[in-house]
Amino acid sequence: MQEDLERILFHERTILARLDEIAAQITSDYRGRELTVIAVLSGSLMFMADLLRRIPLPLKLDFLSVASYHGRPETSGEVIFKQVALPDVKDRHILILDDILDSGHTLAAIREKLESAQPRSIRVCVLLSKKKTRAREVDADYIGFEIADEFVVGYGLDFMEDYRNLPFIGVLRKELVARATR
Ligand code: IMP
Ligand code: MG
Repeated sequence: MQEDLERILFHERTILARLDEIAAQITSDYRGRELTVIAVLSGSLMFMADLLRRIPLPLKLDFLSVASYHGRPETSGEVIFKQVALPDVKDRHILILDDILDSGHTLAAIREKLESAQPRSIRVCVLLSKKKTRAREVDADYIGFEIADEFVVGYGLDFMEDYRNLPFIGVLRKELVARATR
């Protein structure tokens, strides 16, 4: 798998050190509040597991599953909720966890959907945020790392469902992305 990468961006120890910092920030921000974490599957899985174990607060955990890609590396803009029931978020403080903020379509749609269920507050935490002009304006309250506008995989992030189990994050070789989209 590693030969498909152009370069490694963040080693596991770098990711975990950053998670220590974000977890400390979240712990101090949510102390004494009723926190519900909503993780967006499947990309946030590793991130969620490593982050939440660093947050020593009582919290509830729920999941949302969405599809916006249809197997292509460019987002389509249409966000499909793959789940019937929405998590019970009324009057709770919601922290949404996602792997990466790219065009903003996914997180904007999720935010809207959750807002309609009247939570007390909503914040967004992403592991990665691409520096680019977004199709939809979304602000993340907690960001692991800002990256250039390149296609990255590993540590939960996939390309056509592959590479999620790499323990680090790397840039996928451009010809692989190009070949799959032709
Ligand atoms: P957005 O709706 O364009 O912001 O895209 C968000 C979703 O697209 C993420 O949750 C990822 O599943 C996927 N995505 C966007 N950029 C990348 C990338 O560089 N690598 C892997 N997945 C990505
Ligand atoms: Mg994906």
